[in-house]
Amino acid sequence: MDERTNLDRHLRGSRRLDLTGVAWERIADHPLSGAEARCLTYMMDIESHTMVFLRDLLATRAVHDARLTAFLASWAYEELWHGEALGRFLGEAGARPGPGQDLPRWDDPYPSCVGRIGRVRAGATGARATLGRRALAAASWCIGGFPAVHMAWGAVNELSTLTAYERLVRGTANPVLVDLLGRIVRDERRHYSFYRVEAERRLAADARARRAARLAFDRAWAIVGTGVRPLAETDFVVLHLFGDGDGLLAAREMDRTVDGLPGLDGLRLFERARAGALRRAGGPAPGARRGVRVGSCSIGS
Ligand SMILES: [Fe+2]
Ligand SMILES: [Fe+2]
Repeated sequence: MDERTNLDRHLRGSRRLDLTGVAWERIADHPLSGAEARCLTYMMDIESHTMVFLRDLLATRAVHDARLTAFLASWAYEELWHGEALGRFLGEAGARPGPGQDLPRWDDPYPSCVGRIGRVRAGATGARATLGRRALAAASWCIGGFPAVHMAWGAVNELSTLTAYERLVRGTANPVLVDLLGRIVRDERRHYSFYRVEAERRLAADARARRAARLAFDRAWAIVGTGVRPLAETDFVVLHLFGDGDGLLAAREMDRTVDGLPGLDGLRLFERARAGALRRAGGPAPGARRGVRVGSCSIGS
């Protein structure tokens, strides 16, 4: 599929997450474990951080490509609603991400969680983040194949996001969460599809881009959201969703999918990330997968 067809298809399908008919009033009737709430809080924070990712990407040479910026505009808009939806789900479940930090009810005014989002962004925009942003911008002008690397990076991160949501769906006993995440996964699949098609075509056509992408993933890739929240939170999510035997199979399946991108075979990104989280945790996955009602749950952050 050529770039114009791929982008046209994406933009025609782009829309705000449809929350019609979500049974918000029934969320608290069903179990949600503290571990699930902690994972969802991480995901809410990362979805809400998309505007910062967008700012970083717009500092690269991607800003000169009107097709890429059209995609990025729709992508950031859709991710905004994912963050909002997760915040409202957690709010209705009675979760609190920290002392005195209430989350919105389903019908509260938009946007919500503005104080929390501001704190997360402030915590993730220190000197290290600034250096990283400048290095990314500089690399984008030096590396001829940067757009291909960007598309591959997006594909890998969207793949991990949608797989993480699917793992949550598989493990939860809360039917409202199953419904909500199913809707979000449909968006993430569209994001993944766009990035994947672009990455495949661009990497296949450019040996320099393939070398740059392989080097970038091997040296610099980390689980999406690393550095936005404390590493312990990233590790918790990785180990809750991918720490058991099934999770290892899911990580390997994602690695096999990445293997299909030209020049990126054999990197084992997800299995390595999982092993790193296990090593830092010093053992098996923390947290139970289900069973604790979250009516009085406080989530440590
Ligand atoms: Fe999302
Ligand atoms: Fe996405």
